[in-house]
Amino acid sequence: MKKIIVIHGPNLDLLGKREKDIYGAETIDDINSVLISKAKETGVGIETFQSNHEGDIVDKIRDTDASGILINPAAYTHTSIAIRDALSAKRLPTVEVHLSNIYAREEFRHKSLIAPVVTGQISGFGRESYVLGFDALRMMLKERSCIENA
Ligand code: DQA
Repeated sequence: MKKIIVIHGPNLDLLGKREKDIYGAETIDDINSVLISKAKETGVGIETFQSNHEGDIVDKIRDTDASGILINPAAYTHTSIAIRDALSAKRLPTVEVHLSNIYAREEFRHKSLIAPVVTGQISGFGRESYVLGFDALRMMLKERSCIENA
């Protein structure tokens, strides 16, 4: 079974406690559970990963055997050339997601260093950003015949 890897960047382990007015009350486990159910329903493999460390995220991208990447790079969205380079080197179908609408927030969040090297970006729908991103990736992989019956 082909697999999608879900990568959560720094501070997303604090979801549910951190700035609930912006990021909502759900925890990272709640989000992962929804994606795991969706993966089961659709016959796609899934792995979830969270790290607060840029190099660990780079290593995960480099080493993954997944067919597609769903990533919320969190604050590294705006700073990490290393994560961008790892994604471009890997060349897998990749969807960048954000819980909040990064373009409606502080100016320093308006620029994503990641967006130019991913397939697409979904921003501003809370948990649904991940669900929409997962579906988009799944459909893209199906079209590319990477996943049978997805
Ligand atoms: C975020 C937006 C980023 O600007 C921020 O640093 C985060 C979360 C989001 O999901 O809305 O940590 O990626």
